[in-house]
Amino acid sequence: MSTPAPTTLDLNNIQGDILSGLPKKTQFYITFNVVDVAKFKKDLNKFIPLIKTVAGVLKDRQAIDDHKKKKLPGLVPLTGVNIAFSHLGFVKLGIDDSTLAPGGDQDPFKLGQRKDAITTLGDPVKLDNNPDWDPEFLQDIHGLILISGESHASIEKKKLEVDAIFGVNTPHASIKEIATIRGDVRPGDEAAHEHFGFLDGISNPVVNGFDTVINPGPKTVDPGVLVTGHPGDPGQTQRAPWATDGSFLAFRYLFQLVPEFNQFLKKNPVKKDGNNNPLTPQQGSELLGARMVGRWKSGAPIDVTPFKDDPALAKDPKRNNDFAFAGEIDTQLRCPFAAHVRKTNPRDDLEVPPSPIPSIPVGPHRIMRRGVQFGPELTDEEKHSGRTTKGRGLLFACYQSSLVNGFQFLQQTWANNANFPPFENLPGDPGLDPLIGQGPRVMSGLDPLDEQQTVSMPTFIVPRGGEYFFSPSLNGLKTTIATAA
Ligand code: HEM
Repeated sequence: MSTPAPTTLDLNNIQGDILSGLPKKTQFYITFNVVDVAKFKKDLNKFIPLIKTVAGVLKDRQAIDDHKKKKLPGLVPLTGVNIAFSHLGFVKLGIDDSTLAPGGDQDPFKLGQRKDAITTLGDPVKLDNNPDWDPEFLQDIHGLILISGESHASIEKKKLEVDAIFGVNTPHASIKEIATIRGDVRPGDEAAHEHFGFLDGISNPVVNGFDTVINPGPKTVDPGVLVTGHPGDPGQTQRAPWATDGSFLAFRYLFQLVPEFNQFLKKNPVKKDGNNNPLTPQQGSELLGARMVGRWKSGAPIDVTPFKDDPALAKDPKRNNDFAFAGEIDTQLRCPFAAHVRKTNPRDDLEVPPSPIPSIPVGPHRIMRRGVQFGPELTDEEKHSGRTTKGRGLLFACYQSSLVNGFQFLQQTWANNANFPPFENLPGDPGLDPLIGQGPRVMSGLDPLDEQQTVSMPTFIVPRGGEYFFSPSLNGLKTTIATAA
């Protein structure tokens, strides 16, 4: 552990979810349209004091730690509110957001995710040339309000406060809510595990000049990889002053077919581990799942513990992210090339010789993942039938200073690309990311003793909506987006 230089980031100016993650057991994602521009700009002045900044989240986290140390009962009552706007939102508000879209008309932020889903992300398309999404995401969306908290009662109360500010559902409303989706951390021991059962949120970028605890793991990133206007932001020199200290938020409404995923694991168990030891069907199914994700359900990375789960390692922040696939460019013995975590963060795969030439730095492609689960636990009926009847999944959200380098790149260039990683002399293709890859779903490396064997699989994650937003700084909100009341 080392302590970096004091930050030059203004933690009172950056919205809290970006760098520190709003603490949450439950969270509302509220999409809205602005219906009265002049009133909205005034109302925003009353909304801004509700916004939780990074500094505010750090205080909340301190309060949570103190509460735990004192072994006090229950959870600290707290809420966090953030806001973000789409390109269409800025257009509606009459704000020139051109410095947020250096790529012009083809820039994903300007294009919007509904179009990008078809041209780039590979989402299934309907006959009318729209993505096969839920109707509330097929219409224009101007903005997104996040409200997180420790209980349903807290976030509902905060939502009433927000609704009152914007006059929601009154004749004087300045915004119209499109959809309010509630996410919830899963109950009991499944807390922090996504719906397939894998611990999530272990690996996020460690930010130079911000994070004070640096555990062994991937290289740290410059703040501008996540926050606009700082070193590491490819658009740093072009951003309008109001557009600095913000971040792009890629939101995806992702449904998970959990019984179908479980059936797939059950029907295709790995027969032997990489040391030729026979596995029981249950062990073989667990290993199959771990090889698809790149981590065991506990969170232990298979690159460190390839054939046996190690829950103690999973819990140890000094060890659970300390792997790099180094020296493994010609073998999938420990971790398949296409495993979800290897596809989305190839670590040293692309950087350390003999890597592809020229080597590809991974740092610019790191994203800060937030998001939360939604939907109920599996019903008995679903467990028995192996078929999904209730909607559940992940409200996926990630921040970055460039959608082109971040979310869009990860989805298109790595997850959907059967030839990635592009090592020479591979006998076959690594295949698609088995969780999020869109396209013909085949991957190799699931059997550690027969790395070339390919396995076809159905879709387990279905995108049903999303949008690209920009989460502005407090100064940007005050000086440019709101007007004096
Ligand atoms: C329902 C959808 C998804 C599920 C169930 C899922 C699940 C997981 C799990 C279990 C991990 C390992 C835990 C960790 O390292 O924190 C992980 C890591 C990660 N996922 Fe996903 N994920 C989903 C969607 C996505 C999407 C859409 C992207 C981006 C395009 C993405 C990017 C990443 C990244 C960057 C990591 C960290 C890799 C690393 O640094 O080692 N995931 N995900």
